[in-house]
Amino acid sequence: MNLEKRFLQIKQILIEHRSLLEKEVLEQYPNSPSPYTNWAQELLALSSSDLIQLENTLNTPKSLSEDYQNLLKKIKGLTELPKPAIKTKKMAQNFARKISLKKRHEIELINSQLTQLTCDNFIDIGSGAGHLSSFLLQNNSKTSTCLDKEKAYQDIGKKKLQRYHPEILKRINFVTADFQDIKNISCHQETTVIGLHACGALSKYIIDFYLNSEANYLLNYGCCFHKMKTNDFNLSTLAKSQPLMLTNHELTMAAKSYKNISQATFEQREKVKLYRYVLHMYLYDHFKSGFTSIGNTHNSDYQKDFAHYAKKYSLQLKQHDSKKLNFFFQTKKDLAKLYIRLGIIRSHFSRLIEIYLILDRALYLKENQTHVSVTETFDRKISPRNLSLMAYKF
Ligand SMILES: C[S@@+](CC[C@H](N)C(=O)[O-])C[C@H]1O[C@@H](n2cnc3c(N)ncnc32)[C@H](O)[C@@H]1O
Repeated sequence: MNLEKRFLQIKQILIEHRSLLEKEVLEQYPNSPSPYTNWAQELLALSSSDLIQLENTLNTPKSLSEDYQNLLKKIKGLTELPKPAIKTKKMAQNFARKISLKKRHEIELINSQLTQLTCDNFIDIGSGAGHLSSFLLQNNSKTSTCLDKEKAYQDIGKKKLQRYHPEILKRINFVTADFQDIKNISCHQETTVIGLHACGALSKYIIDFYLNSEANYLLNYGCCFHKMKTNDFNLSTLAKSQPLMLTNHELTMAAKSYKNISQATFEQREKVKLYRYVLHMYLYDHFKSGFTSIGNTHNSDYQKDFAHYAKKYSLQLKQHDSKKLNFFFQTKKDLAKLYIRLGIIRSHFSRLIEIYLILDRALYLKENQTHVSVTETFDRKISPRNLSLMAYKF
């Protein structure tokens, strides 16, 4: 894959659709952005199973207009990344204690990714309990430094190793610290620097640490992109020329992207959004209110009428007439459904934003004299933050 070409193609499409992406569709109310509103009308005619299929695969139903189908094909092509077939060694049951199925899947794959490297030492940053390092140190004489700012996580890992694998514990150096306060960690050429789901800016700090270190190898998986500040991305020269200043909304889209949606999730989301959207419309129409957060709601809220929900979650509406609120709901629910469909169109771009951020990191590494590869490794249904960024020095 030509990283530069793919990066620029993604950047271009994100720029073209900026007006849809930079804020939540509900914040556009009462405006309805073109051409997306016509496409959203087309989505209203699709069944829930067709919509789920569209969201999960970006495969285009024939009933959609040609320009919408073309956009979907383009996005699908740009989100396709190499998916190497990786044969994994399964974690033994006795080792898998206290490790979730998701984590097991990730660790098994990473173990296989790293077996090819001439590496005898790891620096595992944001290591949590150190489950990954523990597995990487099984049946060999390798060593690892596991750094995390949360002592409680590390204590879980230490306790488990002390009880079941004391020999591995001797080869792990647990360091409790904020990585930003760390000036130096000893390493050598045959060290791999790892950041598995290194949240927000931590991935950038890890990349800079790797570039300034002796270590030959890097393996990084990012997550929680919404925790980044503006100078934590657009690192590469290609990104810096006319940088795309992604908003927190767009970074949040990236952080949540590529999850496989089930029928149950879809139906629950429809109910939640319908009430939420009509509530915003009411507040906007009557008080010119901007978008406000209402906090967490409960499943039972959606078994009662709209008035009950509106009064519970908006102090302003406590004394309002229930009949009037329910009448408003009846008059606005179709428009709210249209906005929910606009949200589906917007979500088609989520994975592209994530790939933009990962390719930017890859190009930055490449500019700094390393070989890089970006691949899709974990099974999306188990772990959707599945983009592997690997680097080694010339
Ligand atoms: C999403 S968890 C991933 C944990 C582990 N790598 C895994 O995949 O199971 C991110 C971890 O990074 C740690 N972390 C985040 N920022 C950090 C920082 N600046 N310095 C040290 N640790 C940090 C958190 O405490 C947390 O344990």
